[in-house]
Amino acid sequence: MDWERVVRRLRERLRPDQVETDLAGRRVYGRDATWAEGMPDVVVHAESTADVAHVLRIANDLRIPVVPRGRGTGLAGGAVPKGGICLNLAPMNRILAIDPADGIAIVQPGVITRTLQQASEAHGLFYPPDPASLETCTIGGNVATNAGGPCCLKYGVTRDYVLGLEVVLAGGEALRLGGRVMKDVSGYDLKQLFIGSEGTLGVITEITLRLLPMPPARGALAIAFNRLEGACEATVALLSSGILPLMVEFMDQTTMQAVESFRPSGLPTQAEALLLLAADGEPAAVEADLQRMISVMQRHGGQLLRTAFDADNTPYTEELLEIRRNASPALAQLAPHKISEDITVPRSKIPAMARRIQEISRETDIPIALYGHIGDGNLHPTLLCDRGNPDEMTRVAHASAAIFEAALSMGGVLSGEHGIGLLKLDFVPRAFPIAILEKFRALKALFDPQNIMNPGKKLPPATHLSEEP
Ligand code: LAC
Ligand code: ZN
Repeated sequence: MDWERVVRRLRERLRPDQVETDLAGRRVYGRDATWAEGMPDVVVHAESTADVAHVLRIANDLRIPVVPRGRGTGLAGGAVPKGGICLNLAPMNRILAIDPADGIAIVQPGVITRTLQQASEAHGLFYPPDPASLETCTIGGNVATNAGGPCCLKYGVTRDYVLGLEVVLAGGEALRLGGRVMKDVSGYDLKQLFIGSEGTLGVITEITLRLLPMPPARGALAIAFNRLEGACEATVALLSSGILPLMVEFMDQTTMQAVESFRPSGLPTQAEALLLLAADGEPAAVEADLQRMISVMQRHGGQLLRTAFDADNTPYTEELLEIRRNASPALAQLAPHKISEDITVPRSKIPAMARRIQEISRETDIPIALYGHIGDGNLHPTLLCDRGNPDEMTRVAHASAAIFEAALSMGGVLSGEHGIGLLKLDFVPRAFPIAILEKFRALKALFDPQNIMNPGKKLPPATHLSEEP
């Protein structure tokens, strides 16, 4: 590729500083929050839909791969470029409107999730999806991965809040899909295809989100368990007891110990497991739910450690959430490298899945910390390892494969909220029959015939592994 010519064409309508070519600058855009490493040939800092369309026209003409990027907090390598153009959408960070009458927000993709939540709160409105990286991740990335988080147990995931999208396709055509309405069956729902598509179908340049009224009260509980299985069984019992908690989050002993040494908060590190439960709604309903949750937990061997109830957005609930959000960064301190898996199983299978992960850890002799959104059956088994040790990495590969096999055999999926990206690609052919993979490829070709949009992510090529006869 004649990169000087590409850069000249890009600069025909972009300022020189929007088109970055020096090595140090590009290196920053070669990584996400995983160990995957790459390097773009050019980084373009997009400031408008027109900028994005300009880049995608040139890229399509010259068949240059384009990797859209928010703030690089992804946990699957989805934003890691293998050459080509990194399209940085972080500068498109304006909240265009918050409209309490329609109950919506309209935002550019580079808006930080927390910023949107705070802006909504100023109007008494609530944007529930709360990925752990919410202080730094972007709404565009959240939509591209259909991000989840603790509150998604009660309120649903990013998908459930997207009413409309503006997307730009390879070639530069912009489409507005959906809009401000709460119901719409007037066409095929194309916006749904882009939610969770990890940048492989087009670039999201504007998002219309549904907002809810802010619930007046929140309360939270921390419950310790001497046996990990007790915590899993208590979760299943709670979810079928007629209560829908705001969240049911889980940490095993290794995770608690890591979080304690990362930022001490008095976690019960002698216990095998911890559940963090919360409820929200009218104050009286929250109090009643917390009482009922405590009795289900105690019947299953849980010990109540802390309880919090505040009518206006409890600082303790927030403190517990902070503690929980520290799990991933804290575990990163325990070993030179980690892989955060993201399997999701039907919730009746949670105890079996947790047991199987412990067995896999013993069988492969790889430490696996376990935490996650247990109420959704969405667990983050985190494999601790050293990439410099080839024998260990072979065992890590076996452990990952065994975790995926177990999840699939229980009716689960490879990823609940992080995406497939680069790192889980090899397992996709195991998760879907060929007939479905062919439909995926047909869909990809419909929107991106030249395969320039984040190629080599999410969907393995037809020749991949043993899937072809
Ligand atoms: C979490 C991220 C890793 O739940 O999904 O902490
Ligand atoms: Zn998570």
